[in-house]
Amino acid sequence: MCGTGYQGGASGIIDRMPERVRVFAPATASNLGPGFDVLGLALERPGDLVEAEIRDEPGVEITEVTGADSLGTDPNENVVGIAARAALEHLGVADRGVRLALHKQMPLGSGLGSSAASSVAGAAAVGALFGDTLPKEALVGCALRGEAAASGAPHADNVAPCVLGGIVLIRGNDPLDLIRLPVPDALRIVLVHPHVEVLTAEARRLVAQHRFAIGQAVANLGNIAALVHALHTGDLELFGRSISDALVEPIRAPLVPGFAEVRQAALDAGALGCSISGSGPSLFAFAGSDSTAAAVADAMQAAFAASGVASDRYVGPVNRRGAGPQRERS
Ligand code: HSE
Repeated sequence: MCGTGYQGGASGIIDRMPERVRVFAPATASNLGPGFDVLGLALERPGDLVEAEIRDEPGVEITEVTGADSLGTDPNENVVGIAARAALEHLGVADRGVRLALHKQMPLGSGLGSSAASSVAGAAAVGALFGDTLPKEALVGCALRGEAAASGAPHADNVAPCVLGGIVLIRGNDPLDLIRLPVPDALRIVLVHPHVEVLTAEARRLVAQHRFAIGQAVANLGNIAALVHALHTGDLELFGRSISDALVEPIRAPLVPGFAEVRQAALDAGALGCSISGSGPSLFAFAGSDSTAAAVADAMQAAFAASGVASDRYVGPVNRRGAGPQRERS
């Protein structure tokens, strides 16, 4: 079974179609500074698209993967297949079969939750094909099977916001205890992806090997508590001040070329806060308006360029819907 099983109520995130569905699952930014493995949010774009249909034979078949040359179509290796199989088992239809096409629309190893998006799209597609009755919490649990295969550990800080949308706090993984936090209307997120690859499993090993001092943990506890309070009160200044990570950021910063300069450029351009998105190398920054967000993105890309690194950017509001149907390929 995936996660805590049925909690009642259908997911409602998919338009049910008789034999064929298309599901879009958004990119996510996780950790959000102090919240290693416990905080994440959904972006409007980019994201992955899965097309799925029922097939006569049991099991999962992946017919094609576009947008990522390094990913194969073995359903036991590709996270979209692993998550889809978990959903079939969870729904009690392991004797049925699905045919999937995965269209990667975001870079791999970018810190944007690529494996989570593929996993969510695969599990959600199965839920839609076999009854549209996969509750969101169960969907998170099924997608976590794929995420764990990719990163070596089942952390829900990308999968949960990908499914639920918004900003999500993961209070516990076993059993899953997910809390959707308020998103201030003015909040804008800037994601800048430098063109270097960081493998999540490697970046997690760096953290796992490290010994931390109690003072580092205390600093992060204070910042997480303040961050949650700031979202509830709409205090963007406090929110930005709380984007500070004494635990993981210092270990991973060397994986991001020009990290200190890019972060400083973001803050100088008016960012509320800036840190590493997930395991990197993308950096996120928050802003309190569209115009500041655009200026922050410009400054961050210029700083990466000064370090000799090209980059892409994604700027906009937090995605409050999470994964859902998509009728036209974007
Ligand atoms: N919380 C995870 C990490 C996210 O930082 O390793 C990986 O995308």
